[in-house]
Amino acid sequence: MTYDLSIVLPTFNESANVSPIVDRLEHALQGIRYEVIFVDDDSPDGTADAVRRLAERHENVRVLQRIGRRGLASACIEGILGAASPCVAVMDADLQHDETILPEMLRRLREDNLDLVVGSRHIAGGSMGEFAAWRVKLSHLGKRLSLMGAEHELSDPMSGFFLVRVSTFEQFAHRLSGIGFKILLDIVLSAGPALRIGEVPYRFRQREHGESKLDILVGLEYFELLVDKHLGDVVNVRFVLFGMVGALGVGVHLLILSALLRFAGLTFATGQAVATFIVMILNFVLNNSVTYRDRRLRGFRFWSGLITFCLACGLGVAANVAIANEAFRRGVPWVLAALTGLLFTAVWNFGVTSMTTWRQERRSSEKRARQRMEAGAMHEKRQGDEKISAKTM
Ligand code: GDD
Ligand code: MN
Repeated sequence: MTYDLSIVLPTFNESANVSPIVDRLEHALQGIRYEVIFVDDDSPDGTADAVRRLAERHENVRVLQRIGRRGLASACIEGILGAASPCVAVMDADLQHDETILPEMLRRLREDNLDLVVGSRHIAGGSMGEFAAWRVKLSHLGKRLSLMGAEHELSDPMSGFFLVRVSTFEQFAHRLSGIGFKILLDIVLSAGPALRIGEVPYRFRQREHGESKLDILVGLEYFELLVDKHLGDVVNVRFVLFGMVGALGVGVHLLILSALLRFAGLTFATGQAVATFIVMILNFVLNNSVTYRDRRLRGFRFWSGLITFCLACGLGVAANVAIANEAFRRGVPWVLAALTGLLFTAVWNFGVTSMTTWRQERRSSEKRARQRMEAGAMHEKRQGDEKISAKTM
């Protein structure tokens, strides 16, 4: 059985939408041979199990369950690369995208020989539906930001509803950032000018079951995506975030210090020490939940992480003062001397904490793997010994 079309549906907590979307696709895609791939990030509501139950009755439905991973864009990328047909449609699983335009999208892709067909809410015949006014504004703002430097005119780059030719996708897949929610934008900014794009209008529906995952972190990821697309070759996105947290920390430090001096009557030295301590904790918490949210430390590791973070940054600050002092003593203007010290500290703090506080925890999985290997080797040795003793008997 070969398929004409694969539908990739990223899911996080969509168990109530799984069965309705499969029914709707069946209705909309009569006469088309298609498969449905749910890419689920280990949803606590059991979405993956709901798909597996459905798959018992539908041989063209399956789930790709990711463990320890989160992210709409990266889920789509993995779904597309796991598809078994030459054309893949990506759509939300929450019934907000209008599946009835899929045959038209497929026809356009084939007949006009396109690489990408986008479901658009912003061309004649399309609409944002009853989207809340603030979401409409946010979407327009995102759109204006997004197409800076893009080689393509696109009426709805924020859409998550599109059809792509897999052979084309494979050509730029390695350039994708895979960050955040906006996979279509990622594609358009990664693919280069040769991409042939078409658009088909649709009306955005209201969500009926479950809730949207759009939150402040998703907004931040959008910003990260843009930074990565425009500066990714020059500077690491995580470093940009780390630097921003640090800069925020400097501002908060000055506020706390001035309050302590004015209202608490502390001496400068005590006030400075107290403010440094508070800001260090604040920076750790912010970096842990924003910059390194994918490796977030919890429980015991949160506290040990706080200690290594404070040690690393304490050394960084000491070095900062020493370097800036030395530069100043040698006649470097004070602003330049201060900035040199700060830059050194930023690079040091980032580098050291990335290798200690938030190092990728491979030790535990490696330990398990080694135990497995050792157990296997023991087993083989025992079998070998048994053979030898059998021979000598
Ligand atoms: N695998 C996976 N992992 N799926 C996710 C994740 C995740 O971390 N976060 C969200 N999803 C899935 C949801 O389950 C849903 O099927 C789809 O992605 C869209 O998520 P929503 O939470 O419903 O997002 P939304 O409606 O606010 O945002 C959508 O807005 C655009 C229109 O402006 C985006 O998802 C776009 O795709 C959509 O076109
Ligand atoms: Mn939605």
